[in-house]
Amino acid sequence: MKIDIISCQPGLIDGFFSQSIVKNAIQNNFVEINTHDLRPFGNGNYRQIDDYQYGGGAGMVLMIEPLAKLIRQLQEKTTYDQVIYLTPDGKTLNQKSVNKLSLSKNLLMICGHYKGIDERVRELFVTQEISIGDYVLSGGEIAAAVLTDAIVRLIPGVINDETSALTDSFQDDLLAPPVYTRPADFEGTKVPEILMSGNEKLINDWRLEKSIERTTQRRPDLLTK
Ligand code: ADE
Repeated sequence: MKIDIISCQPGLIDGFFSQSIVKNAIQNNFVEINTHDLRPFGNGNYRQIDDYQYGGGAGMVLMIEPLAKLIRQLQEKTTYDQVIYLTPDGKTLNQKSVNKLSLSKNLLMICGHYKGIDERVRELFVTQEISIGDYVLSGGEIAAAVLTDAIVRLIPGVINDETSALTDSFQDDLLAPPVYTRPADFEGTKVPEILMSGNEKLINDWRLEKSIERTTQRRPDLLTK
C-alpha cells in the first residue's frame, strides 16, 4: 500500500511515522508513506499557498492553484483509490471505514490548515471527507496521522499476532474485554481465575460476556446499530 500525504507542515507528520508500529511497517515494506510539502507549489516568488477568503471573515484559506498543481502531479504517477480530505465537517471516522480503507492500494490524504481549503478543491479532486471527531484541530496533520495509523495496523503481517487486530474494540461493534498479564496477584488484586483455567471455550465465553457488559455500560449506542 502507498499513502501520499499533502501538507504545508510535513514535519508534523514525519515525526509520527518515525516510531513504533508504523515505522516497522514502513521498514518492512508493508506500506510506503510519502509526505509532500505544499509550499514549493505556492504562487510567485513568495510561494504563496493561502489567502483571505472572499466575502470577508477571519482566517486564511489554502488556495486552489498550489493544491491542484501538486495533486495533478501526483495523479500523473499514481491512480488513487481515494483522495481524502481531513476536515471536521467530514464523515466521522469509525472502524468500519478504516477496515474498508485498509484494502486500498493507493491513498492520497490532504491536510487542511487555517480556515480550510478552497471549496473547489473538494469539488474537483476529493472523493472522501473524513473527520476524526467533533472538535477542531489546528490542522489536518494529526487527523491524517490517526487515520494512517488505524489503517496501517490492519495490513496483514504488520501486527505480529495475526488475530490481534481482529479482536480489537469495535471490530464486532463491541468494546474489547479486560486484559491481564503477570503477576497473577498484585497486592491482593487477582486476575480472574477463569483466564488461568486453560479452558479455551470458557475463556472465550467469559471474554464475550465482559465485552457485552463493558459495551452496555460505556457505549450502549454500539449495541443498537
Ligand atoms: N482538521 C481539523 N480538525 C479536524 C478533525 N476533527 N478531523 C479531521 N480533520 C481535521
